[in-house]
Amino acid sequence: MAEAILQVRDLVKHYPLTQGILFKKQVGAVKAVDGVDFDLAAGETLGIVGESGCGKSTVAKMLVNLERPTAGSISYKGEDLTTMSPRALKAVRRNIQMVFQDPYTSLNPRMTVGDIIGEPYEIHPEVAPKGDRRRKVQDLLDVVGLNPEYINRYPHQFSGGQRQRIGIARGLALQPEIIVADEPVSALDVSVQAQVVNLLERLQNEFSLSYVFIAHDLSIVRHISDRVGVMYLGRIVEIGTDAQIYDHPTHPYTQALLSAVPVPDPEAREHRERIILTGDVPSPANVPSGCRFRTRCWKAQERCTLEVPLLAVPAVFRLTDTPAKHDSACHFAEEKQVVPPENGTETPGTPDPPPEA
Ligand SMILES: Nc1ncnc2c1ncn2[C@@H]1O[C@H](COP(=O)(O)OP(=O)(O)O)[C@@H](O)[C@H]1O
Ligand code: SF4
Ligand SMILES: [Mg+2]
Repeated sequence: MAEAILQVRDLVKHYPLTQGILFKKQVGAVKAVDGVDFDLAAGETLGIVGESGCGKSTVAKMLVNLERPTAGSISYKGEDLTTMSPRALKAVRRNIQMVFQDPYTSLNPRMTVGDIIGEPYEIHPEVAPKGDRRRKVQDLLDVVGLNPEYINRYPHQFSGGQRQRIGIARGLALQPEIIVADEPVSALDVSVQAQVVNLLERLQNEFSLSYVFIAHDLSIVRHISDRVGVMYLGRIVEIGTDAQIYDHPTHPYTQALLSAVPVPDPEAREHRERIILTGDVPSPANVPSGCRFRTRCWKAQERCTLEVPLLAVPAVFRLTDTPAKHDSACHFAEEKQVVPPENGTETPGTPDPPPEA
């Protein structure tokens, strides 16, 4: 892998659970993020997937400093953001921007599109002097495929897909190197999702961006991600290249998630095994001992209760040279092909993107 632009190590966010009104006493913690590690290479897209509530947004917010970690480190080009002075942090933060999930609520309805996109310049006037801002914002509108003449309109005058383009333009305003996109297409109609994903791909090439692309659905991140990390209850349980994760998953949770991904080809669909998980996701305030997936895992054994599986290459694959050799936090990791190979090829390529509307 190319040199990491971002290194996340043992990242933790615990929200205290308190009792009492006058004398608040901590009685526990919601372990929203509970030890997350990953690297992001320059120019790379890392997909992060997992069910709702597994801690994805909390990771995203810590990356852009909207939440302070309880523990762990986030290093940008070797400098730890969690210990930086506020002044140094402000300069670095410019390079890491976020695109939010819901374009309907994340844009201030009382501000014009021009003010929304140009707002980051109030905090970083060095990027665009006042007299230059209107032109910069119009350039940004053009870059995301919107008419620069719309600069004085309000968010309600746009469709969902157009609003997400506005959110993306705002994310680009400070010319960042990294964009953290938290479920950027989840709130959009399926027909519009591909257009926004295509736009993000085009912008990545144009501006050499690195992406952390968060989704709850494995099928959305597949075509945009170079690598994919699968989260469960505050931790990454498996991480690898997209071919490793989709075609050679070794963690039972990833296998279960993949077995629920829609398969367009009816014949392939017939041969696909559905893994139905029993039970609910445990509360992050009450995480199971040992392997946190054990209460829903069909392979769980006594060792899974006693010993926390680490995110590393499982011993069985360490000496092999197969695509199954990638990090997976399972004591009994086994390869299982869940999604049938497309058209007989083992590693399906990226289909041509539909034309942008
Ligand atoms: N400010 C908060 N206080 C307490 N718990 C929180 C807070 N923010 C998130 N949580 C909890 O942390 C867990 C992870 O939330 P989140 O990161 O939003 O998950 P995701 O984005 O994967 O759906 C959830 O159980 C959520 O209820
Ligand atoms: S460690 Fe045990 S419980 Fe956890 S995923 Fe592996 S087999 Fe299942
Ligand atoms: Mg979320």
